[in-house]
Amino acid sequence: MDINRCALINLPKIVDCRGNLTFIEGGNHIPFAIQRVYYLYDVPGGSERGGHAHKELHEFIIAMSGSFDVILGDTHQQKRIHLNRSYYGLYICPMIWRELDNFSSGSVCMVLASTRYDESDYYRDYAQYHLAMQQLL
Ligand code: TYD
Repeated sequence: MDINRCALINLPKIVDCRGNLTFIEGGNHIPFAIQRVYYLYDVPGGSERGGHAHKELHEFIIAMSGSFDVILGDTHQQKRIHLNRSYYGLYICPMIWRELDNFSSGSVCMVLASTRYDESDYYRDYAQYHLAMQQLL
């Protein structure tokens, strides 16, 4: 798995003078069926979130309000992506280490996920993640 399989995906945008509308269909606009939605909000300035990888989980991250950065890593390379619009998002495939920081005040980070919450799907220890990535090669 490498971070080049992760991608920014533009979503449909229905522009309307009454207010714009964006929608997401699992398996259509994003490459998985959605089983869970969660969001980060009331994030204090300077906070960092994430700091883990997932074995099987696919995720799609959207800045619903404000902005923040997602740092993707795959043991060979790292990329920092700034999210600041609600009409596109970042697809993250399994086995990618991710961290989130640089949250603006009032930001909301919404995550669409391919499975229900399962703690056993996490690598929270970077050394264990690194070892698992070596074994995949
Ligand atoms: P975690 O995934 O570590 O948050 P982040 O990556 O945003 O820093 O989850 C933080 C806590 O919330 C952890 O105790 C697990 C719990 N949690 C759930 O119970 N359900 C969920 O869907 C998520 C994402 C987390």
